[in-house]
Amino acid sequence: MRETKKTQVPSPMPEKFYRLIDGFRLYFSENCRWVPLSKALFAACELEVFDKLRSASSPQSADDITTALSSDLDATTRLMDTLVAMELLEKFKQGDQWLYSNSEMATKFLTKDSPDSYLDMIALINKTLYPIFGNLESAVLEGTTQWKKTFGMSAEDWFPNVCNTEEAKLRFMGAMHCNSLYASYAAVKAIDLSAYRSCCDLGGAVGTLAYALCQFYPEMKITVCDLEPAVSLAHHFRPSVEACPNQANVSFAVGDFFKPETIPKAELYVLSHVLHDWSEDKVDLILSNVYKCLPSGGGLLICERILNEDKRGPTLIFSLLMLVSTGGKERSAPEFKHLLEKHGFIDVQAKRVYFTQDAIFCRKM
Ligand SMILES: C[S@@+](CC[C@H](N)C(=O)[O-])C[C@H]1O[C@@H](n2cnc3c(N)ncnc32)[C@H](O)[C@@H]1O
Repeated sequence: MRETKKTQVPSPMPEKFYRLIDGFRLYFSENCRWVPLSKALFAACELEVFDKLRSASSPQSADDITTALSSDLDATTRLMDTLVAMELLEKFKQGDQWLYSNSEMATKFLTKDSPDSYLDMIALINKTLYPIFGNLESAVLEGTTQWKKTFGMSAEDWFPNVCNTEEAKLRFMGAMHCNSLYASYAAVKAIDLSAYRSCCDLGGAVGTLAYALCQFYPEMKITVCDLEPAVSLAHHFRPSVEACPNQANVSFAVGDFFKPETIPKAELYVLSHVLHDWSEDKVDLILSNVYKCLPSGGGLLICERILNEDKRGPTLIFSLLMLVSTGGKERSAPEFKHLLEKHGFIDVQAKRVYFTQDAIFCRKM
């Protein structure tokens, strides 16, 4: 081999650059290993690999899982080894056979019967957000959501068309529930709300945040206000009295945050993962309705991600996701302050709470 000054050596691709290209399927972990990412996890959940392993009485071979799934042996083995690399499965050798079992993380978050199961949210991401994000370039060109292009129908038509059975609706609500389960506790703990005796969680879905509130503030009566499909399924998510002794303080009402006459009166309103779903004019309508309903001194708690002021950092990707999927956007703390003060709110405070969600609190004079 001979390398001279004249030899044309192409530039090496910086690893950082390669990671950006392959980010949809790879993740570079701290210990410098490439780890395959989301789609392998989504596929395994969809195929119920973790539930099959959980319900088996002992670790299973790839052959066993292939039989249980009626799948292809080589492909199933590849998927399972990929899940081992993601630390979702563990494998060990017995004789000349590899046997697989769920890791602790998979048992806790990726099996149906676990109280911490994230399966409903993963199914929603896999079936909606993953395909819709594939049309990001159109969203940037048009500045609009991509429901029509991705699914052939508007977002408004998607819910009644796709969530058209009790089971499908329950899974959708289950996704809302698991997504905010821990974050709700973190948010209501981060801000002192003890001055308020009544609260209305607008767009509160099946009451996840309301049940967190009633644990920290036993004197507070909380009404969850949402559209009929959410309210009619809420009883499925009511925790037991043992798990949540003040659960009787939580009630549900059908209402529409665009119609002030349907909003229950309260001293404190909550908007959790609501504002970022709507365009600027709709956000203005929701906030002016909340302001009208609040008594003087009343509070508003907003639970959402807060972007860095200089719009740097990984959270920015969520604002792009909002563009493609809801037509809304994420905001920085100064943007929240400006928006809320425009509507007459005062004492706007923004708090970092948890990596999936922060809290903004303000009052009416
Ligand atoms: C993204 S989810 C947020 C759920 C919950 N607050 C959370 O943090 O997980 C938005 C919620 O707003 C509700 N919603 C949508 N439009 C509404 C309206 N016009 N009035 C009241 N609720 C509405 C939806 O049914 C859904 O439960």
